[in-house]
Amino acid sequence: MRAWQIVSDGGVDALKLAEVASSAPGSGPGPGEVRVRMRANAINFRDLATIRDPVARKLPYPRLPNSDGAGDVVAVGAGVTAFKPGDRVASCFFQRWIDGPCSIEAMNSALGGAIDGVLAEEVNLSADGVVPIPAHLSYAEGATLPCAALTAWNAVVEVGRVKAGDTVLLLGTGGVSIFALQFARMMGARTIITSSSEEKLARARALGASVTINYAQKPDWENAVLEATGGKGVDLTVEVGGAGTLPRTIAATRVAGTIGLIGVLTGGQIDPATVMRKSIRLQGIYVGSRRMFLDMNRAISLHGLKPVIDKTFAFADARAAYHAMAAAGHFGKIVIEI
Ligand SMILES: NC(=O)c1ccc[n+]([C@@H]2O[C@H](COP(=O)([O-])OP(=O)(O)OC[C@H]3O[C@@H](n4cnc5c(N)ncnc54)[C@H](OP(=O)(O)O)[C@@H]3O)[C@@H](O)[C@H]2O)c1
Repeated sequence: MRAWQIVSDGGVDALKLAEVASSAPGSGPGPGEVRVRMRANAINFRDLATIRDPVARKLPYPRLPNSDGAGDVVAVGAGVTAFKPGDRVASCFFQRWIDGPCSIEAMNSALGGAIDGVLAEEVNLSADGVVPIPAHLSYAEGATLPCAALTAWNAVVEVGRVKAGDTVLLLGTGGVSIFALQFARMMGARTIITSSSEEKLARARALGASVTINYAQKPDWENAVLEATGGKGVDLTVEVGGAGTLPRTIAATRVAGTIGLIGVLTGGQIDPATVMRKSIRLQGIYVGSRRMFLDMNRAISLHGLKPVIDKTFAFADARAAYHAMAAAGHFGKIVIEI
């Protein structure tokens, strides 16, 4: 059995493809666990950041990267009745966040961070830490759901409570934002999306984006958002930029609107008084619970939603997948097939 491991702070090129004996202790599923033959992983900006700087995250070596995988159950441990060999499943980002609000216990169960991730041919996961993949999705598509899709769902549906007729702002065309675009459309909302690329904006329009803005050509893009909303601002912003985009996001969100704070792509400073003056609800979002994942999958199945996969890499070329993410040329998701 092969697995990719973070073994140093040497970044993407220092990732090691290791041979792990299938007969090694712990290789079978323990009580309450399922063993999954992984068929695909999807990568997130967070996986790249973890590989680049494992020291800041106090990771022990070796540590398997990635939270998002999909594959087949090949064996079940004692006491597991919900799954059987042959079931197609995806990993839950948090192995111990079933329902209710996030907790320290949940945060200490994040795959590819607090605990080993899923970039391996086979892994053991808690039976409560996997969910069935929607029947119409491939393994590659199913693998895109655990982090990017669930974070977007949490922002749009759980926190944003978006309803038909609302306007939702999405920043950039990465994994989270494209899922948020799809979910906002599913809920009947009008969508405004920004990108640094005209070609990506054309792809966003093809996915149903109502208004597209090139933030590279229009650095004061918040004014274009205000113009598109009659000066009022959007009901919900799915904020993946972080401190560098937040001042403009606050300006682009309506009085008493909501900002789902998700990303850390940019640095900068904000004036908290701007949040207070507009009575904005600024809510931190950390992926989501297993219950949200099951709700999301029901909606994905009902609407036949297809995740947008930009590029696919072979298992042996995993390093190239992270380099592609670093280059930021992608639209939607990057997948590694196993
Ligand atoms: N809190 C959570 O639970 C959670 C979950 C998932 C992700 N995240 C965070 O959310 C962020 C996005 O993650 P991801 O996996 O979707 O990343 P990704 O797929 O790598 O998306 C990156 C895209 O963001 C856009 N972008 C970069 N700088 C921007 C800026 N200044 N203004 C507007 N857009 C900008 C670019 O889009 P264009 O190329 O179109 O310009 C870029 O391609 C990351 O910080 C990640 O760590 C947090």
